[in-house]
Amino acid sequence: MEFDREYREALSLTESELRGCFGEDGPQRELLDAMRYSLLAGGKRVRPVLTLKFCEAVCGEMKPALDYACGVEMLHTYSLIHDDLPCMDNDELRRGKPTCHVKYGEWLALLAGDALQAAAFERLAASRRTAPPANGKACAVLARAAGCGGMCGGQYLDIVNEGRELDEEDLNRIHIRKTSALLEAACLLGLTASPTEPSEQQWAAAEQYARLLGLAFQIRDDMLDVESTEEELGKPIGSDADNGKTTFATLYGLDKCREMVEALTEKAKQSVQGAFESPEFLCALADSLARRKN
Ligand code: IPE
Ligand code: IPE
Ligand code: MG
Ligand code: MG
Ligand code: MG
Repeated sequence: MEFDREYREALSLTESELRGCFGEDGPQRELLDAMRYSLLAGGKRVRPVLTLKFCEAVCGEMKPALDYACGVEMLHTYSLIHDDLPCMDNDELRRGKPTCHVKYGEWLALLAGDALQAAAFERLAASRRTAPPANGKACAVLARAAGCGGMCGGQYLDIVNEGRELDEEDLNRIHIRKTSALLEAACLLGLTASPTEPSEQQWAAAEQYARLLGLAFQIRDDMLDVESTEEELGKPIGSDADNGKTTFATLYGLDKCREMVEALTEKAKQSVQGAFESPEFLCALADSLARRKN
């Protein structure tokens, strides 16, 4: 299928670039090992694929966005390492392997996350695949998504609300920050990397697509925490219940969740249709994430 081939192509571009990272020797070798351990443990690579394909959707090429794609995946991996720590979700399996703190200990995992976050911004700022003014803009896009108004803010709300009853509006507020924000940055980084300036309509479409995709993505994630298996998911099942989280799965049940994911996915697809010449891949990606098993 064309979608699978295109996904594999973007994935292998990302993987081979990431494999080249943090290989240098030095006194802090163990820290670099911990960073590589989590970064190269697999994962779907949804965010870098979005970056590469949004760039391609505007200019016909993925390569200008390759550094930005690596950067967003580094930032995402940092967020996962910290998310799994005992002081946060306290999980011991990630991407089918022991979590970073289980393998390397807590303080090293904390530093591996910190260093991956710094490396992400370094990668964006120093990219030679784009015109230098784009790199500053890219850093601002990623910083906004990662910070207090984005992923970190969402993680704060997620944890501070453990054990509390939440409604749909509360959950959307959390998901837009903890999950949609970084997916949105991934899409916007692709547009930022394009040597041809995207139209106003394309910026708006990418934002809308990512926001809806992110909501669907997190609902699907919450469903899998209930209905999947550890083997298939590569992370623990029942973590949300153990941590007393209200999720869409606890609020509405799995059937209603499935309907919500479908409706959000349809809307996400509509937002890119008409704005891009070839939105087929972006639409097929939204469909495949709605049905994902891990
Ligand atoms: C997990 O993200 C964290 C959420 C935002 C739900 P992914 O499901 O993209 O995890 P990987 O990168 O494939 O491991
Ligand atoms: C975390 O959400 C999202 C992040 C910002 C890392 P979850 O806590 O639900 O992610 P998983 O299920 O551990 O991957
Ligand atoms: Mg969490
Ligand atoms: Mg978690
Ligand atoms: Mg989860």
